Amino acid sequence: MSEPTILSGSANPALADVMATRLGVDPVKRTLERFPDGEMHVEIEESIRGRDVYLVQPTSPPVETNVLELLLLADACRRSDAGRLTAVVPYFGYARQDRRAKGREAVGARVVADLLQCGGFQRVVSVDLHTPSLEGFFAVPVEHLTAVPILAQALRAEFREDGVVVAPDLGAAKLAELYAAQLQLPVAIVHKVRLSGEKVAVRRISGDVRDRRPIIIDDMITTGGTIEAAARALLEAGCREEMVVAATHGVLVGPAATRLDALPIRRLIVTDTVAMPAVRPRALETAAVSTLLAEAVAGLHWGGSLANLAGHR
Ligand code: R5P
Repeated sequence: MSEPTILSGSANPALADVMATRLGVDPVKRTLERFPDGEMHVEIEESIRGRDVYLVQPTSPPVETNVLELLLLADACRRSDAGRLTAVVPYFGYARQDRRAKGREAVGARVVADLLQCGGFQRVVSVDLHTPSLEGFFAVPVEHLTAVPILAQALRAEFREDGVVVAPDLGAAKLAELYAAQLQLPVAIVHKVRLSGEKVAVRRISGDVRDRRPIIIDDMITTGGTIEAAARALLEAGCREEMVVAATHGVLVGPAATRLDALPIRRLIVTDTVAMPAVRPRALETAAVSTLLAEAVAGLHWGGSLANLAGHR
């Protein structure tokens, strides 16, 4: 059986390169360019006829560009008579629009899932989806992996008797339980309300945080508003002025770096599902998910169980 074929879009080629190295293959040569009118043009530069292709592209900002590029590459693969096509989308953009929170809104996650289906993928691989139920938006199998054990491993050095794992909103409560179980620490939950895309407010905190060292965890950090609000509420509630933050996806747009730099954060750990922005918070470190993804590709290609890589449901 031939080896798996790794093909990368422009959203995070460094991640695809490391995956390919771990699998002992070279990423497929391709051209990604723009015509003078701004249209994207993609071309595969070697034969992939009959190959089992893994197309690596997080749909991080600019989401629209990255989704379209993924679809163009998928089309090029199909027209090149690739065998099986898997979308490896480590970060799934629009995931937070998984339902109508108010009235006449679009359910963006469903629209993006439908678009991906147009790519003709036989399967989708993703990491720590904002909501596990997003799996149901796809008609094809979704392999939902988790980076929690990787981040928990990086956090193990932070274990202190007086530590507390903090969910910065109710949506992160289950995730916090998973980290707490791995780190053997109690959980506290910040009750957040979102005022706008960039602003959030805190109503109250459940759990004991006074004189404790918080480890704030989340699935993603976008503008940093959620972490900032949680951190300030924790400080007001009397926690120690020494925080650690961990999240799977460091999207880090707009005011994120400035906001996070203004907080007493000693370590800020995210994974490399998303390419790092040019302006980064001082305390930022990355934990690699390339091995996790390479193991998933190996399991899918050669036929092995992915159960021990799977995310919470
Ligand atoms: C929300 O439910 C997510 O889990 C994150 O807490 C949130 O999306 C992060 O966004 P921001 O950093 O802009 O507050």
